[in-house]
Amino acid sequence: MNLRTLGNQGLEVSELGLGCMGLTHGYGTPPDEKTGIDLVRKAYDLGITFFDTAEAYSKGGNERLVGKAVKPFRDKIIIATKFGFKNGDASFGLDSSPKRIRKVVENSLRYLQTDYIDLLYQHRVDPNVPIEAVAGTITDLIKEGKVKYWGLSEAGPDTIQEAHKEQPVSALQSEYSLFNRDPEKEILPLMETLQIGFVPFSPLGRGFLTGAMDAQTEFSKTDFRYNLPRFSKENIKANLALVDLIKQIATKKQVTPAQIALAWLLAQRPFIVPIPGTTKVHRLKENLGSTTISLSRDDLEQIKTALKNIAIVGERYPSHLKKFLNK
Ligand SMILES: NC(=O)c1ccc[n+]([C@@H]2O[C@H](COP(=O)([O-])OP(=O)(O)OC[C@H]3O[C@@H](n4cnc5c(N)ncnc54)[C@H](OP(=O)(O)O)[C@@H]3O)[C@@H](O)[C@H]2O)c1
Repeated sequence: MNLRTLGNQGLEVSELGLGCMGLTHGYGTPPDEKTGIDLVRKAYDLGITFFDTAEAYSKGGNERLVGKAVKPFRDKIIIATKFGFKNGDASFGLDSSPKRIRKVVENSLRYLQTDYIDLLYQHRVDPNVPIEAVAGTITDLIKEGKVKYWGLSEAGPDTIQEAHKEQPVSALQSEYSLFNRDPEKEILPLMETLQIGFVPFSPLGRGFLTGAMDAQTEFSKTDFRYNLPRFSKENIKANLALVDLIKQIATKKQVTPAQIALAWLLAQRPFIVPIPGTTKVHRLKENLGSTTISLSRDDLEQIKTALKNIAIVGERYPSHLKKFLNK
């Protein structure tokens, strides 16, 4: 698989990563541990070298699974994890105090069974802790060899610029897909200017863009999408116009909608590395197929034009979580 570069500090990863969240957390009942471990190992066998986890996914449980899975090839891959919530749980609110960052890093190193974290993101910007203090803590962790590169997630342009001045940022991880194109306005041009890599999370629109959902889809109460306005029955129904467009293009190119959604992201900028998540090997293989699809200038123009007539409805986060975004 081709590699892409994130930032200009030397971080190189496979052009598609693996989002590991759903292996323990977020989307209803997760698979058993063996299935999760096998999936991560299969991803490595198929060429993926970039694995995304976070303290907040199952309070370290996701890191534990990833750590176990990658142990045989840990030095061949890039592990990205995140700090930023009180008690490792988004429902308790934010905490990026230097003391908490250090505590999370010690825990993550233990859970991941490693002595360094390749890429450490601040999961959400904490308005109570100046970004200079966060950057300073990261600089110290880098000097100590515990962290190699740092990143931000869902940060706004001012924070990104301040952070980057203090300690060069290698990657920003924010939601970007055909389902949410907000980063196109300010963020992607800024990434280009500052030479920061961009890692779109939920690149398949949390599964919506694959065509696997419709207004009849039921989410269990333990599925995060149950609480997301964009996944209410009315909003799903209204947003299916986007899926219809993706399906049309997929049929024309004889590929699947998921592959179009990922190939479209890869075609946007050379410094973009999507991290689709799945719990199933056949979908992992399908998603990897996106790296072999080339969308021509005509294809991209056709999509761009069609998108102008498709309005996406529904907030992507409920209000208590929306307030953490783009700070
Ligand atoms: N920084 C942040 O705040 C943040 C927020 C959210 C996520 N993330 C990271 O981003 C990663 C990816 O995002 P995500 O998991 O939210 O969303 P996603 O990758 O857009 O979609 C994942 C969903 O799509 C389904 N899926 C995957 N491939 C499929 C295919 N080919 N056909 C049909 N369905 C398919 C999966 O179900 P199956 O498991 O059944 O295949 C899962 O429900 C996460 O794992 C996490 O590491 C970060």
